[in-house]
Amino acid sequence: MSKIIISPSILSADPANLERDVRLVEEAGAEYLHIDIMDGHFVPNLSYSANVIRALRKKSNLIFDVHLMLQDADKFIDEFAEAGSDIITVHQEAVPNLKETLKNIHSFGKKAGVSLKPGTPVDMILNVLDLTDVVLLMTVEPGFGGQSYLHQVDKKISELYKIINNQNLNIGIEVDGGITEENVNRPVRAGANIIVSGSAIFNSNNIKDTINKMRKKAEQ
Ligand code: DX5
Ligand code: ZN
Repeated sequence: MSKIIISPSILSADPANLERDVRLVEEAGAEYLHIDIMDGHFVPNLSYSANVIRALRKKSNLIFDVHLMLQDADKFIDEFAEAGSDIITVHQEAVPNLKETLKNIHSFGKKAGVSLKPGTPVDMILNVLDLTDVVLLMTVEPGFGGQSYLHQVDKKISELYKIINNQNLNIGIEVDGGITEENVNRPVRAGANIIVSGSAIFNSNNIKDTINKMRKKAEQ
């Protein structure tokens, strides 16, 4: 098993205290910061703009793991790259020419991710794996924090893990949605190594404790 990376999703952080909350997860040993960008079209919700990334970049050394839930992601890659993202992930379902988009992300010196909604099969991205640094498998329907983990995605995680292993590719498997200390070992057992968690971390009484426990459970 590769090292587990924890990527707290600031969608569930306190919007009036973002700097404080980001510092808390950084001090707690999280490796990434998951930043959800929503446009009200690809998903029925709105969140942050690139300005928030630009502002947080000055306050944090975490790896910024930016999840673009945008219908028109291609229009905004340069802006999100320039704002200080480290990993830029687009949805397969939203991008007409995935290869070109991934190449564009790399042209800014950033890592490129592809995300799949729970119902989208892994087959849809087999032809872009050589251009992909991270596959982000949604374990809830994208759009909102605080939903329940969809167990049917476990099969997809193992399927992707096998493909990556067989082809000896260096691709992270990230899971996003409904992950708690209680269920984190399920996606990890199936092959995931990057864990996004929003409400379970930010709504807990002790962020550091929750991250430590989650990591321990994942590594068990
Ligand atoms: C949902 C987002 C998630 C969300 C996860 O569309 O992509 O990153 O913040 O939140 P929890 O962990 O609460 O399900
Ligand atoms: Zn996300």
